[in-house]
Amino acid sequence: MSKAVSGFSKLSKSEKIDWLSVTFFNNSDKIKKVLQQYWNSNNVLQNLHDDFIENTISNFYMPFAIAPNFVINGKIYAIPMVIEESSVVAAASLVAKFWSTRGGFKANVISTTKIGQVHFMYKGDKQELQNYFSLKKKELFIATADITKNMRKRGGGILDIELRDKTGDLANYYQLHVTFETADSMGANFINSCLEAIANEFKKDTSTGSVQDIQIVMSILSNYVPECLVRAEVSCKVEDLYAENAEILTKKFIQAIQIANAEPHRAVTHNKGIMNGVDAVVLATGNDFRAVESGAHAYASKTGTYKSLTNATIENGIFKFWIEIPLAVGTVGGLTKLHPLSKLSLELLGNPSAKELMEIIAVAGLAQNFAALRALTTTGIQKGHMKMHLTNIIKQLGASKEEKAFLINYFEHKTVTHNAVVEAYQKLVGDK
Ligand code: MEV
Repeated sequence: MSKAVSGFSKLSKSEKIDWLSVTFFNNSDKIKKVLQQYWNSNNVLQNLHDDFIENTISNFYMPFAIAPNFVINGKIYAIPMVIEESSVVAAASLVAKFWSTRGGFKANVISTTKIGQVHFMYKGDKQELQNYFSLKKKELFIATADITKNMRKRGGGILDIELRDKTGDLANYYQLHVTFETADSMGANFINSCLEAIANEFKKDTSTGSVQDIQIVMSILSNYVPECLVRAEVSCKVEDLYAENAEILTKKFIQAIQIANAEPHRAVTHNKGIMNGVDAVVLATGNDFRAVESGAHAYASKTGTYKSLTNATIENGIFKFWIEIPLAVGTVGGLTKLHPLSKLSLELLGNPSAKELMEIIAVAGLAQNFAALRALTTTGIQKGHMKMHLTNIIKQLGASKEEKAFLINYFEHKTVTHNAVVEAYQKLVGDK
């Protein structure tokens, strides 16, 4: 039987599920039940979610959790996080509390501009092209005036349009490199609409005249946003960082960062831990985590070698630990106010501006990295991880409340492995 289908998007939701059931699950009712149990009983809400994307057949739940006690620039936040990894929110909460008694986090936005590009090919005379662009530049702004009107009222818009000669990298390749300020929105749609209007205007009149045959290849924003940058930092006396052996352990912490800066294999994992915190808040606030991920990793490679997004120093007995990360996020537009839970997240954060949200997200990333490096350079990561994992394994085994309490107590001072938990559970159940 063919598993290919045509006109799938035109089928109703239940027809889609029927087709899946017949084609991939032996016409079993089980998949219908699993999918249906995640439908929202409120039809309006379910329809809202159905319409976010094409071919929706159910909802995929992720835990929505809160990490309280974050002090950022003197203000206290309870940070919403959406993530499936068991130890992330626990770590964030511990670190928030820890730094709340040591001056809290300081954060500031360094820059907020974004980039979009019209990529095109041109085989003619370079100087003619430059002259054409210089004459045309004003009209390129005018061509976007309608699109940018509201954004300009909010303090944003197009800041500059440059002609860039990229023929050294690729034969005949040029671009219009456009710089944007998108105020409180992430701005992807705004940027792309402007770019398409700019491309149309730029191409106009080029079939005749001195500049002919501009071939527009594509017009699209860049998710590399090194000029949409935020910094977050913590600092305290070295002696306040650990209860014992503070100097030795602080040095180890710094060595862990130096290793990440010297060794890309480690840097990737180091930054993955940072993104545990970053993505969780990006998701909870309805922002685009793929955009943030790609931008952050590109920034980590800005020197030509993939490095840590965080850094630390000890100077005059003071430990300082900071992150610099590009974050293109919004607090208006997109899903931010459309998804009831991202709307709630933003309300919980006091309806921040995009800049304030950048600060909060950077802090969440720094906090995760602090938790990871502190654990890695002292007890090791598995102690905390497996403690959280233990509850997941117990749940998978279908243990009762009493059995769960027994197993948690049993593993208090023992190494948690999947096998060890299964064995302990089987012994417990068998003993009964
Ligand atoms: C796990 O999700 C993240 C860590 O591997 C990060 C790190 O190694 O720094 C613990």
